[in-house]
Amino acid sequence: MSSLIKISPSILSADFSKLGNEVISLEKAGADYIHIDVMDGHFVPNLTIGPEVIKKLRPLTKKTFDVHLMISPVDNFIKDFADAGSDIITFHPEATSDVSKTIKLIKNQNKKVGISLKPKSEIKLIKDYLSEIDLVLIMSVEPGFGGQKFMPEVLEKTKAIRKLINEKKLSVDVEIDGGINFENCSKAKDAGANILVSGSTIFKENKGDLKKNIEILRNN
Ligand code: DX5
Ligand code: ZN
Repeated sequence: MSSLIKISPSILSADFSKLGNEVISLEKAGADYIHIDVMDGHFVPNLTIGPEVIKKLRPLTKKTFDVHLMISPVDNFIKDFADAGSDIITFHPEATSDVSKTIKLIKNQNKKVGISLKPKSEIKLIKDYLSEIDLVLIMSVEPGFGGQKFMPEVLEKTKAIRKLINEKKLSVDVEIDGGINFENCSKAKDAGANILVSGSTIFKENKGDLKKNIEILRNN
């Protein structure tokens, strides 16, 4: 089972003054994906990076860029993030007036589509779109900041989504994001998540030993 688990380190906890080197280090340390948190100071109360930074990082690694858009309205930026080199583009249903249209916009760019649920967002927001998407991103903290405490109540929602996906025989990834650490990672996997995002645990535990931290999250 654990060999099917993918680890997607969030560069939100990286040293932004040497972001390129941090991405190269994550690849060497065994990261499967690179999780890139995009925030607009409007959909969430924080600001991070835009497509120009992703474009500059793109030549440094072949790893999948797992781009988590916390921006609203999202549609007008999809082409920019696709052109910059995103591989998976994930949006929040609350950030668009037409979820189907946003899914199509991403697919038209030949990118994988993810939809993200905030801790209090209900499954019904995305249920009807499961057969059209590649990934569900379950937020286990309120989006906006790294280093927050994991909200165990989202595990039930994770289980329910995994059950729906399996019942419909779909191959949709379930990714969990926020407060993932060495203790709760096994609970997230047991609930049905097959991709784990982690920022602070990967960059800060064991004096920042990226390889060791990725391995523990993968195998615990
Ligand atoms: C929060 C972001 C997460 C966050 C994860 O809005 O979506 O990706 O950076 O960081 P940790 O692992 O520190 O909670
Ligand atoms: Zn994220």
